[in-house]
Order: sequence, then C-alpha cells, then structure tokens
Amino acid sequence: MSSCAPVSSETSIVPRHVAIVMDGNGRWAKKRFLPRFFGHKAGVDSLVKVVQACIDRKIEYVTVFAFSSENWKRPSDEVSGLMGLVLAAVSRYLARMGSMGVRIRIVGDRDAVSDKLRAAWNEAETATQHNTKLTLSVAFNYGGRWDVVQACKQAMRAGVSPDQLDEAKLSQFMAMSYAPDPDLFIRTGGEVRISNFLLWQVAYSEFVFSDCLWPEFGETQLDAAIQEFRLRDRRFGGVKTADAVAALGA
Ligand code: IPE
Ligand code: IPE
Ligand code: MG
Repeated sequence: MSSCAPVSSETSIVPRHVAIVMDGNGRWAKKRFLPRFFGHKAGVDSLVKVVQACIDRKIEYVTVFAFSSENWKRPSDEVSGLMGLVLAAVSRYLARMGSMGVRIRIVGDRDAVSDKLRAAWNEAETATQHNTKLTLSVAFNYGGRWDVVQACKQAMRAGVSPDQLDEAKLSQFMAMSYAPDPDLFIRTGGEVRISNFLLWQVAYSEFVFSDCLWPEFGETQLDAAIQEFRLRDRRFGGVKTADAVAALGA
C-alpha cells in the first residue's frame, strides 16, 4: 500500500494502459465538513489533471471507474447529483479534452441513463473520435460482470457457436475490445478490492493501492504508482528469460 508521500521516479518504462478506481471522494468531502457532492466535483478536477499527467508521461490508455453498476444503491440525491455532474463536466471540459488530444470513450450499460446524458456522451465520443494522444475510457454504469454477460449475449447474437468461442473470440465482444488490457490498475481511497471493475481485463494487470483520496491524487502519486509498476516482475505465468536459461543449464 503506497501513501501520499513523494517518491523519485525515472522516465523509462511506462504502462501503456492505466485503469483507475477513483475512490475516496465522499471521505475527502467529509473531512472538510462538505456534502459528498463536493468530493465528486473535486474528483472531476483531479481527473482532468491526471489525464494531462498521463499524456505527459506518454501513457496511451486511461480507463477510470466513474459509476459502478452497484452505485445505484446510493441515496437518490447523490445519484442525481452525480448524473448532473457528468453533464456539467462534459460541457465544462469537453473542449479542453479535445485540445489536449484526448479521445473519449464511454463504457457501460447506457440503457439506464437519461436521454440527456446519453446525448452528452455521444457528443463527447463523436467530438473526440479522431484524437490520438490518449484514449480516456470512462466506465459509467459499468460492472465487470455486466461486461462478461453483455459480451456473451453479443457473441450469441452474432451467431458464434460454442465450438468457435474461445478467449480471443469473446474478447472481441468485451466493452473495451479497442484497448489492450490494463498494465497498471490503481485504486485510491485505501480499499483493497476490485468492486466489480474490469474483471476480465485485469487478469495480468499489476495492482497498486493508494491511501490517497482521489481528489488528492496527482502527479506525485501517479509517479509513485508507475515507479511501483516498474519494480514488478511481470511473468504472465512463465519464467524470466535468465531463469529459463539457468534451468536449461542445471
Ligand atoms: C468514488 O468515491 C466515486 C463514486 C463511486 C462515484 P466515493 O463516493 O465512493 O467516496 P467514498 O469511498 O465514500 O469516500
Ligand atoms: C467503486 O467505488 C466504484 C467507483 C469508484 C466508481 P465504491 O466506493 O462504489 O466501492 P465499494 O462500495 O467501496 O466497494
Ligand atoms: Mg467509495
């Protein structure tokens, strides 16, 4: 578990795809005796800064968990506040994201959201579709289990037979089929769980859990997470080349 403390970092290897559970907005607001909504508002500002920091570090894909399939369980005023906040964020930041070179994608079940929100998302996706600096996927009304089920449904509708179905085939129907799997998975806010985020895609991601509350997460904490990622020995079930050579010699 890393803290908010600064660490030094080099600029060699960077993860190509970073997935982030932006958790801790409510606690950030509570610490300041503010309604939870203000934590979510500060969270949006934090997101914009982190996206710029990722562009500066040449990270190609950032996927953030903004609203889970389970977040509907929250009090209705918080849910409606979040919906309003997304609309406000699109109108406030879309042009800026565009000029930063960000391509926006929304992943999640769009059926349950308002027509107005769906229209805002379509606008955000269309306006930024040709940008190439970084792809920002916003997971909204998203659940990892939902994703697996919707992919299975789509595959069945496309006429894929049980014999044709394998991991590569099902991947083509997952909500984020356009992106490589996340290399680095960051969760802020101190909880050490996935909370139904990208279940299928994180099979070999490196996990970094930070005690930092999301509105306080910035470049320093991003660099700390990247530094921790660099120290990991990714084996994907195999062995390191040096160890394999040593084993041959034994
Ligand atoms: C994450 O922050 C944002 C959303 C789930 C929308 P939380 O609202 O979960 O913040 P905490 O965990 O209560 O502090
Ligand atoms: C995960 O955070 C969802 C988002 C950050 C959008 P939660 O706050 O909803 O997760 P739990 O309830 O602590 O598992
Ligand atoms: Mg939370």
